[in-house]
Amino acid sequence: MILPPHAATAASPWPQVPHGADLARARRLYDAPAAGWLDLSTGINPRPWPAAEAAARLGAAVWRDLPTPDAEVLAAFEAHYGAGAWPVPGSQAVIQALPRVWRRLHGSARCRVLAPGYGEHAARWALEGHAVTLCEGHELGEGEADVRVLASPNNPTGERFDLPQLQALAARCRLLVVDEAFLDAEAAAASLACLALPNTLVLRSLGKFYGLAGLRVGAVLAAPHWLDALRAEMGPWSVNGPGLQLAVAALRDTGWQQDARRWLAAASLQLAGLLEAHGLHPTGSALFCTVRTPRARALHEGLAQRGIWTRLFDLQQPRPYQAMRIGLPADEAGFERLEEALAALRKEIDPCE
Ligand SMILES: Cc1ncc(COP(=O)(O)O)c(C=O)c1O
Repeated sequence: MILPPHAATAASPWPQVPHGADLARARRLYDAPAAGWLDLSTGINPRPWPAAEAAARLGAAVWRDLPTPDAEVLAAFEAHYGAGAWPVPGSQAVIQALPRVWRRLHGSARCRVLAPGYGEHAARWALEGHAVTLCEGHELGEGEADVRVLASPNNPTGERFDLPQLQALAARCRLLVVDEAFLDAEAAAASLACLALPNTLVLRSLGKFYGLAGLRVGAVLAAPHWLDALRAEMGPWSVNGPGLQLAVAALRDTGWQQDARRWLAAASLQLAGLLEAHGLHPTGSALFCTVRTPRARALHEGLAQRGIWTRLFDLQQPRPYQAMRIGLPADEAGFERLEEALAALRKEIDPCE
């Protein structure tokens, strides 16, 4: 067994998984920038669906009533995501609940988890005492495994798995978990859920493409027995009433979705072009760029000294991996600030070194 990164240590029995949006850490480590922090440490859409305006239009009952998803809510989720979608309080809630559900149903699991990836997957399976092996994409289908876990597009690498690859992986395990938290941003990309395989579980999120990470709403798409088990584990009313109503409105807002996809496609191209122009070669998704380089720490620190907060990855397993992930600036002023900082840094750091 390979221990996952940031899992329980002697110092703490609880997983210590680093995340973006940790501006408190930036404030602890660096002087306050005169222009304020430019937070590019997440892959969250910086131009979110307008939830505040929609929230002002919600009726009083939604704040008062217990929020059991009704037929209208479920129809909106299923129309957007495909059959069998259930609203959850962020895909994170399923990532935490699933290893507990598995243990209750089947005992110990042998899990192969894609890495580098969203660190919570490996940490949560390990926390529940399952045997976790971290592996790169080409190793995911190898060996004996009960559960295989991946994200597509993957965070932070941007790696993608097409439907035949996913089908082949599903055929080699009892449960294939596919985290599609970043998929909504890509109109042409197909969800594994469209194959309706009985042993797959798909996670979706309104946090990334819709820019509503604070709302804590996502969806799980799976066969009915998996949905039943997860519903039981998460208990009644797991998504709050305003969250459900706002999610329904966002999922139905196809005009906003089209405009957002267009803007994200252009902004991510602009970001990739800017990085390339400074000798950095990014991979990524429509919502972030990731630059893998041995100079990632120097770049991350140099940008932080200039008030730009990015996400640093410095991992050892399954292979050494140093990278900096950069989210999209919301506007031209943000792009210009990043451009100036990279130009200044280039004089100090050779990214190709
Ligand atoms: C790949 C991936 N999956 C899932 C999550 C959890 O997102 P949420 O719980 O907001 O849906 C994240 C958060 O960063 C993520 O990067």
